[in-house]
Amino acid sequence: MISRSPFGDTFEYSVSATQEQERLEQFVQNSRKTVVIQGLGFVGTAMAAAVANAKDASGNLLYNVIGVDLPDEANYWKIARVNKGLASVVSTDTSLDAAYTTAHANGNLTATYSPFAYTLADIVVIDIHLDIKKKQLGNAREYDFTFERYKEAIKTVAERITNDTLVLVETTVPPGTTEKVLKPMFELIGRQRGLNTSTVHLAHSYERVMPGKEYLSSITNFYRVYSGTDDAAKLATREFLSSFINTKDFPLTELHSTTASEMSKVLENSFRAMNIAFMQEWTEFAETAGVNMFDVIQAIRVRPTHRNIMAPGFGVGGYCLTKDSLLADWSYSTLFESEKHDTQKRLEISLSAIDINDMMPKHTVEMLKSAMPDLKGKHITVLGVSYLNDVADTRYSPAELFYDLCAKEGAVMQLHDPLVSYWVEKATDVHTSFDALAGLKHDAAVFAVRHSNYLCMTADQILSALPGVSLIIDAFNIISDGTANDLRARGVKVLGIGKGHWN
Ligand SMILES: NC(=O)c1ccc[n+]([C@@H]2O[C@H](COP(=O)([O-])OP(=O)(O)OC[C@H]3O[C@@H](n4cnc5c(N)ncnc54)[C@H](O)[C@@H]3O)[C@@H](O)[C@H]2O)c1
Repeated sequence: MISRSPFGDTFEYSVSATQEQERLEQFVQNSRKTVVIQGLGFVGTAMAAAVANAKDASGNLLYNVIGVDLPDEANYWKIARVNKGLASVVSTDTSLDAAYTTAHANGNLTATYSPFAYTLADIVVIDIHLDIKKKQLGNAREYDFTFERYKEAIKTVAERITNDTLVLVETTVPPGTTEKVLKPMFELIGRQRGLNTSTVHLAHSYERVMPGKEYLSSITNFYRVYSGTDDAAKLATREFLSSFINTKDFPLTELHSTTASEMSKVLENSFRAMNIAFMQEWTEFAETAGVNMFDVIQAIRVRPTHRNIMAPGFGVGGYCLTKDSLLADWSYSTLFESEKHDTQKRLEISLSAIDINDMMPKHTVEMLKSAMPDLKGKHITVLGVSYLNDVADTRYSPAELFYDLCAKEGAVMQLHDPLVSYWVEKATDVHTSFDALAGLKHDAAVFAVRHSNYLCMTADQILSALPGVSLIIDAFNIISDGTANDLRARGVKVLGIGKGHWN
């Protein structure tokens, strides 16, 4: 079977349980502790690099690290790349690549599809995903959620670990998951296997990893919150986190329960999502009133209490901010409240914020249509399809709704992103160079992501990348007033989200 990575490399694979078992047994033949990381996605990839490069005070490597992912077409390439000393996410952080090269040379990092790895673990880190799906964009109150796949994955760990293993859950989960869902499962399976269940330590600590230029550093040089289901789990987690995080400058925070740690994660993301959503109606007000919202924001941010007021933008995407409030809502209404009340309690304000954010790109479509009412047959170029600047991740990108709404009106959609050559969610190719764009027809263009490549473009550079364009929308404060004026002097209409003084 063949697995193709987003880097363009392909890997042929077949599965042999016995050979993998022997290879892994060989791999841990040393005095180091073994850390097994379940899931080599955006979080697991960076964690594996951070843990593999951890050293003691004398400079000795602390851990053998085994990453586990799935042997299927969509994921096998992650295992293969790690075993070649290559990271399994597209990243602009060169230190991540360097960490993989070093770990490969040191021979203390490997990856496998074999769950046998869990039998060798002193510590298991759970970095797999747990999805919750909205039934429809714009109605976050209705979603599909089940623990089944997640529990199946964790079961493969519970069925194999030995006494005295720390299982550290890093997945973003509904608050209460570790205590109410995972602990009973580990205890039941542990008893059936004849383990001393009091020596299996369950804990939760969440990632604040920020894909981008500081990807690896956002794990090793940043604050962490954690808790465990008992004191031994808390202590083991503290020791483990302190071994690869710079806790001198970024001290750890211990919370009283894993439910508190889980709640901390979904609350902090809900808070951010709400801050962004709050700005949307003010953005539209400023546009109507002819006000430059970015100047207003700057004026307000001088107040220390208001420094994190958010700015207008194209939309909110990514795997976390778009869903974490829903996990919290499910927990509140199902895991806890249903036990006490007939009527379900909901996290109304947080869910409304998700709806506002999800629908935000519609506002850019409306702005586009205010200047170009009939989109049928028009060539619309979207600059930036990832969800965040200088990141290649396209999961739940706001560009998706924009693309769909314009395509529905008959527009011919053209895409550019310096970091994305293939947009998996839309199953479509994306241009990565301006030269490729220059050969196309352009009626309108939308700057949708604050990628570094876009920020310093002059009017000349924009026009040579987008020849013939008559309308440009700056949806994320990418174009300066001066460049906008230069473009206007060349006959291009320029509009901007939150830029009432332009519109
Ligand atoms: N992406 C971020 O920036 C970020 C930041 C903080 C927290 N988180 C949270 O961390 C968790 C992981 O997120 P992610 O972005 O890394 O997800 P991801 O989808 O990129 O990675 C998950 C990985 O787990 C693998 N996997 C699934 N089932 C498995 C199994 N049974 N055995 C082995 N591997 C399996 C998948 O193949 C995939 O490679 C999520 O809960 C997410 O909400 C993500």
